[in-house]
Amino acid sequence: MKLPSSIATVVALCLARANAFSVLETRRTQTVTTSALHMTTSSSSSNGASRRDFFAQSTAAAAAVAVASSSIFVPTLPASAATSGAGKVNAKLAAYGLPPVVAPSDGFISLLDIYGKGKNRTPLLVTFNHPLSWVVTLPSNTVNGEDGTIQAGDYGKGDTATLFVYNDAGAGDISSNDITKAPKELLETVLKKSIGQRGDNMYQNFKITKLEPGTGNYYGDQKYVTVDFKYQLLTGAGFEVDRKGVASITSEGDKNKAIQVLWAASTAARYKKTESTLRDIVASFRCYADGLNLSSELVTFDE
Ligand SMILES: *[C@@H]1O[C@H](CO)[C@@H](O)[C@H](O)[C@H]1NC(C)=O
Repeated sequence: MKLPSSIATVVALCLARANAFSVLETRRTQTVTTSALHMTTSSSSSNGASRRDFFAQSTAAAAAVAVASSSIFVPTLPASAATSGAGKVNAKLAAYGLPPVVAPSDGFISLLDIYGKGKNRTPLLVTFNHPLSWVVTLPSNTVNGEDGTIQAGDYGKGDTATLFVYNDAGAGDISSNDITKAPKELLETVLKKSIGQRGDNMYQNFKITKLEPGTGNYYGDQKYVTVDFKYQLLTGAGFEVDRKGVASITSEGDKNKAIQVLWAASTAARYKKTESTLRDIVASFRCYADGLNLSSELVTFDE
């Protein structure tokens, strides 16, 4: 079923909300998702109801996390502050002996953050550039560990760039530790997990449309692969929203198992307008794990 674009926007918004992980983002979009719900419930009462439950639960859960984390966070560690701006990002990279970030295009800003500050994850230093106006969300940490990911987006339009870390590659899946030689099936599996990271039934007809080695100036022996793809997002009300995106994929740290993805996508209808922005974002993606002592970046709790 195809949608008029106004409804598609609301639906994309709704789904962008489902993709946004941080408590802050949950709060920011709460009023918007409420109005979106009226549309989905009127289109399909049964699915709309379960969607309403989903939002009600996730909002309650987010509130609980907010209350819990405010009393649990170690005060000296800001809960969610990425390093931003090429100056600060490059100073931090230099302190780790790493090369500067890809120079941001006009209207872009550089971001650096550590994914995996919690005890349940392996720390990874991540940088990329994103449009200045986009809202950044970061993983949240509680005493139980870290949840969520690094994401930037213009959520109202459904334009997003999201980090995904895949830890389930089998030994030998990435031949010679070279992601550019990884089988297309593996990249497809990883990308499907990336776009479905908030639930497996939210998309259909996923297809890789282009696959080529990254052409950036990479540090050391790092390798990246650039993948174009498209898929249809499914909404709780049974609508489909065509989306197109591009991803940059690498394998750092545990090279036989860990695969890191920065994927950026928008609605297919907006892709003509967004493509160069999305490509710019993923082309600037770099992550580092090997040989870095990130222990001072980690979140620790008094136990
Ligand atoms: C890593 O850095 C911390 C200080 O931030 C230091 O205490 C620790 O010994 C270092 N670990 C290694 C393996 O060098």
